[in-house]
Amino acid sequence: MILLASDHAAVNLRRSIAEHVVTLGFDVQDLGVEDGRSVDYPDFAHELAEKIAHGQADRGILICGTGLGMSITANRHPGVRAALCHDAYTAEMARRHNDANILCMGSRVLGLGVAEQIASVFLKTAFEGGRHQRRVDKIEI
Ligand code: RB5
Repeated sequence: MILLASDHAAVNLRRSIAEHVVTLGFDVQDLGVEDGRSVDYPDFAHELAEKIAHGQADRGILICGTGLGMSITANRHPGVRAALCHDAYTAEMARRHNDANILCMGSRVLGLGVAEQIASVFLKTAFEGGRHQRRVDKIEI
C-alpha cells in the first residue's frame, strides 16, 4: 500500500502521480487534500508520516510546492526517513543507501514526466543493506 498526500499547491500533481503509481501495480490510498482549500502542509505530512511510522503502509509520497515543508515535517517522526528528490538519481540513492520510506517532491519544481520517473524509481528500487544498514541504524537519536 502506497499513501499519498499533498497540500493545495500540489493537488493536480498528486492526482497524476496516484494514477501513475496504480499503473505500476501498487495499491494507493490518497489522503488528500481536496481541491479549492488552502491548507497547512504539516497537517497532511503528520497524518501520512504517522501511518508509515506505525507500519500501516509500506511507503508514502508527500508533495507540496517545494517538497521542503513536507520533508521537514515528516522527518520529525521516529522511523520515518523522508527524502526530498529532484531527479531519478536522488530517488534511486534514497532507496539504495538511505532506505527512505517517504518520497517528497515539489510540484513547483518538477514537471509531470520527471515526477513520474522519480516515483517509479523510488518505488521499484530496493535497499542495499550491508554497510548502509549500519548507517541507517545510526540515524535515530
Ligand atoms: C504553499 O504555498 C507552500 O509554502 C507549500 O506548498 C510548501 O512549498 C512548503 O514547504
